[in-house]
Amino acid sequence: MTERKRVLSGNRPSGKLHLGHLFGALDNWVKLQEEYRCFYFVADWHALTTEYKDTDKIRESTLDMVADWLAVGLDPDHSVIFVQSSIKEHAELELLFAMFTRIARLERVPSYKEIQQETGRQDLDTIGFLSYPLLQAADILMYRAHYVPVGIDQMPHIELTRETARKFNELYGHVFDEPEGLLTEVPKVPGTDGRKMSKSYENAIFLSDSPEIVEKKVLPMKTDWRRQKRTDPGVPDECPVFDLHRIFSAPEVIDWAREGCSTAGIGCIDCKRKLLPRIYEALEPIQNRRAEINSKPDYVVDVLHAGNESARSFARETMDIVLDAMNFQVL
Ligand code: TRP
Ligand code: SF4
Repeated sequence: MTERKRVLSGNRPSGKLHLGHLFGALDNWVKLQEEYRCFYFVADWHALTTEYKDTDKIRESTLDMVADWLAVGLDPDHSVIFVQSSIKEHAELELLFAMFTRIARLERVPSYKEIQQETGRQDLDTIGFLSYPLLQAADILMYRAHYVPVGIDQMPHIELTRETARKFNELYGHVFDEPEGLLTEVPKVPGTDGRKMSKSYENAIFLSDSPEIVEKKVLPMKTDWRRQKRTDPGVPDECPVFDLHRIFSAPEVIDWAREGCSTAGIGCIDCKRKLLPRIYEALEPIQNRRAEINSKPDYVVDVLHAGNESARSFARETMDIVLDAMNFQVL
């Protein structure tokens, strides 16, 4: 059997996960496990590039996020699940890449200026934050990944990774194949205020939310502005509740909502009440698995220890090849 192609992806530790994470990325990560050798990791050093003043939550968020990964179906028997900061080789590889990476190139990566502007933070004028995408290149090339499932916002980082691979090969001989970003189509997952679902907007439905909480969040959701009165018809395609129906409901129910909304045959509360049980149904198995995971106190740490072990041995192999190519064999 030929060796399966490798997939790698990571997330900064963000604590408990919400529906945006599930439908935006994790569902796809779970599926990729069937076909590829997958590496999924917590980018805790990447969190440090912006959170260096406030490090106390990173560890807890790491464990919480990994517990949710396992609850949605990432399978440690199939995938290597690990923590970036446990594999010191990532720092070593980034250091080597830093020798030939131009500062001006990193300054041109869009996220560098964008995040500084969006957050207004003056204290992100750091080497660590500037080299964020170079560390990401090290993460990816370390496992000689063929595919990197990411959102469109990450594509400039994949491009930098490809350039870094090319430049390394040019200087020291062919070691790295260029990885490809894997953009899969994801549904629109609006938060309860209609904007993109995000923890920082406080509009998220978390994987851990009970039916009561989901109901409290969904019933007051803003709907299409045209439906001021029960008799006003609406445009379902402009309603975040309808976007959620598309994700959770059966085709007949989606048709029922589309028809009922545009003819004022149903009210928004009817529409939301039809949606609610489908959300619970989707969350219930995840919450059951999460409860099981929580009942075994060392389980997540054990999974990470085993994952770190496998990741480290792969990383050591890559570093042997890299150091050899650079005439830097360890004495
Ligand atoms: N920058 C990514 C994000 O913000 C996280 C990340 C770090 C990553 N290293 C990576 C993603 C390597 C894919 C591959 O989501
Ligand atoms: Fe949205 Fe449903 Fe109300 Fe239409 S009926 S505006 S789809 S909640």
